[in-house]
Amino acid sequence: MAHRLLKKLVGANANGARLYSSEVRKCTLIPGDGIGPEISAAVQKIFASASVPIEWESVDVTPVRGPDGKFGIPQAAIDSVNRNKIGLKGPLMTPVGKGHRSLNLALRKEFDLYANVRPCRSLEGYKTLYDNVDVVTIRENTEGEYSGIEHEIVDGVVQSIKLITEEASRRVAEFAFQYARDTKRTKVTAVHKANIMRMSDGLFLRCCREMAEKYPEVKFEEKYLDTVCLNMVQDPHQYDVLVMPNLYGDILSDMCAGLVGGLGLTPSGNIGINGALFESVHGTAPDIAGKDLANPTALLLSSVMMLKYMGLQSHAAKIEQACYDTIAEGKYLTGDLGGKAKCSEFTNAICERITG
Ligand code: IPM
Ligand code: MG
Repeated sequence: MAHRLLKKLVGANANGARLYSSEVRKCTLIPGDGIGPEISAAVQKIFASASVPIEWESVDVTPVRGPDGKFGIPQAAIDSVNRNKIGLKGPLMTPVGKGHRSLNLALRKEFDLYANVRPCRSLEGYKTLYDNVDVVTIRENTEGEYSGIEHEIVDGVVQSIKLITEEASRRVAEFAFQYARDTKRTKVTAVHKANIMRMSDGLFLRCCREMAEKYPEVKFEEKYLDTVCLNMVQDPHQYDVLVMPNLYGDILSDMCAGLVGGLGLTPSGNIGINGALFESVHGTAPDIAGKDLANPTALLLSSVMMLKYMGLQSHAAKIEQACYDTIAEGKYLTGDLGGKAKCSEFTNAICERITG
């Protein structure tokens, strides 16, 4: 099952393409907060210009109080994702240390989106310290340090549980190896601290080792998280696909994004057995919200990942190329990339490349 999903993600499934390319498919859209609505509108406009056969179903995920008194995702939004099994999501505001739990996490949990895939590639036209960076982090997305099990033992002493299961470790390890094989990559690095977290990371690592044996065509190595951070900023070219527990993936994926220009440029996909949600990883940027200044690239490249997953390869390629070419040309860059263009100008430049 995971294999079939993966094939779709990397666009290698001819059946998937046949299944999906001719009919109009509904896709859930969660525009999100802050700059979310304007970057979502940019993606919708670009999709329309490329005649992508998708009908958007826009939903609001502002938490509502349930019968148990707890705040949660509105049922209509849950139903929409369950029906469509595919969604695109803008940034959602997360209260720090109080209020409702992060909705970003609630969505991943709700749909059991167990693998978080974040490719980081250097973009032509936006120079960073290293050229030709091309790494993919695959993060366990449902447990670990993100389990949300925290309590106060006595006054002044709190405990937070890092939950690691064999089942979740194995499925994300399997995903990583399948991804590497199907995208013709050569190596998977398991990132861990099993020297310290001997039982939890030890279990995660064991699952990766066992999976490596089933994929002899993919090289496998084990590295400590701190070593990977050190190596990554010294020479990112030594890494390819990296798989790791939840929190490590959160941190390392931001670091990798930083190497290629930041969160405004990097896509992300949350993949599960029964659905997938693609999202931009950056924040809501309230300071520039509503001012037509935001860069929609991260959400757009996430939507390109989504199209590949759906088997819409030619639409994906056309949009991706138009986005890359617009950035490479450098004429319509948004402020975060050192340009002066508005979000709408950048969007229009992409649309013009698509329609020719
Ligand atoms: C991410 C984000 C989220 C996370 C936040 C917004 C809850 O940083 O997707 O990486 O910590 O996972
Ligand atoms: Mg993060």
